[in-house]
Amino acid sequence: MDSIIVTGGTPLKGRIQIAGAKNAALTLMPVTLLSEEPLTLTNAPRLSDIKTMSSLLGSLGTEVTSMQGGKVIALSSHGLTSTHADYEIVRKMRASNLVLGPLLAREGQAEVSLPGGCAIGARPMDLHISALEALGAEIELRDGYLHAVARKGLRGAVIKFRFASVGATENALMAATLAKGTTVIENAAREPEIVDLASCLRKMGAQIDGDGTSRIEIQGVDRLGGATHQVVTDRIELGTYMLAPVIAGGEVECIGGRMSLVQAFADKLQAAGVTIEETADGLKVRRNGDRPRAVDVTTEPFPGFPTDLQAQMMAMLCTAEGTSVLEEKIFENRFMHAPELVRMGANIEVHGGVATVHGVKRLKGAPVMATDLRASVSLILAGLAAEGQTRVNRVYHLDRGYEHVEEKLGAVGAKIERVKEQ
Ligand code: UD1
Repeated sequence: MDSIIVTGGTPLKGRIQIAGAKNAALTLMPVTLLSEEPLTLTNAPRLSDIKTMSSLLGSLGTEVTSMQGGKVIALSSHGLTSTHADYEIVRKMRASNLVLGPLLAREGQAEVSLPGGCAIGARPMDLHISALEALGAEIELRDGYLHAVARKGLRGAVIKFRFASVGATENALMAATLAKGTTVIENAAREPEIVDLASCLRKMGAQIDGDGTSRIEIQGVDRLGGATHQVVTDRIELGTYMLAPVIAGGEVECIGGRMSLVQAFADKLQAAGVTIEETADGLKVRRNGDRPRAVDVTTEPFPGFPTDLQAQMMAMLCTAEGTSVLEEKIFENRFMHAPELVRMGANIEVHGGVATVHGVKRLKGAPVMATDLRASVSLILAGLAAEGQTRVNRVYHLDRGYEHVEEKLGAVGAKIERVKEQ
């Protein structure tokens, strides 16, 4: 396993190309299961999660061809050979559950392992299950697998979510494209990745209205065709690199960035004293003054502040002037990065879903441990502002969600290198 070593204290200057969105690609890839015709995705990110999804689809009989170093993915599911999503693949990545809706819609059955560590009650799939049951599927849990069947095919229905789950909205949307009649999804997730999914499905012939709002209406069609689709920009990678010059000082232009993808996040940066300029190619970000100012943040479904940027924002607030309160409302237990930041000299108190960050002037480099994907990048960001060397161990999570982080930050002047773990 690799480690990343960051030596802090250098202001950044230059341009960073933002990749296609991991979370969009992970829901666009299973779309192939809905059609016999080819689907080509361009602007795909080069990440280990994409490889995991490729293996899963390959195990179902999809032909997956990676081109241009992984930036283009060609998928063809003309002959599926299996409807079984195996535990060995699913346990690596929760997003594997996105094959459930499409398999059920196309094949009338699916057996999908529950993701590891997720009980049906506690870190659940209940919204996915109830949505597909509303469409006429029968689903039961046996031997750790969800066994879903829809012998007479799926039929349109009204699905009303108690919470605007991203994955459950995606599964329901994909499944409903081939259901008989009209489906209405109420309290649907509004994330840009949902809009991207709907626009790809429309190119394939699906009839969908209202994506990007809380009410999506789908008229089922008999079959879907092929398409070529460009994956939307990764708003989480964008937000992460927007924070780099705020933390380290300097100015960075994030190429491909758009304000509409990160509005709630950008509002908070501006309140912290950051200048964000929309340019022809993206967003240019500059910190004003020596330190950013404290701001309070509450994570919410889109268009609110994204939970996937909470850890990175916390890294920034560690050296802000004043006290910030961060409230995590999407996931419990998503402050695992806080004790690691404390090891670097941060002053953070965590009580349940609320973290209070008292800004300090400077962090100090330390060996720290990456506990999950967003936590690992938050520690790298913190390292950019720290005195001396920060060694982020166990960065395997990082490669799930960030392509070549050391090259991208290195190119704008950060002192950063990847080494083999000792
Ligand atoms: C997606 C993103 C993830 C992001 C999250 C929230 C992908 C591949 N992943 O995950 O990066 O952090 O959205 O923006 O797109 N829940 C239920 N029952 C369910 C499903 C979810 O109670 O059936 C709960 C979850 O436990 C969690 C909350 O809803 O507390 C949010 O989950 P959800 O929006 O479904 O996130 P994912 O689609 O898993």
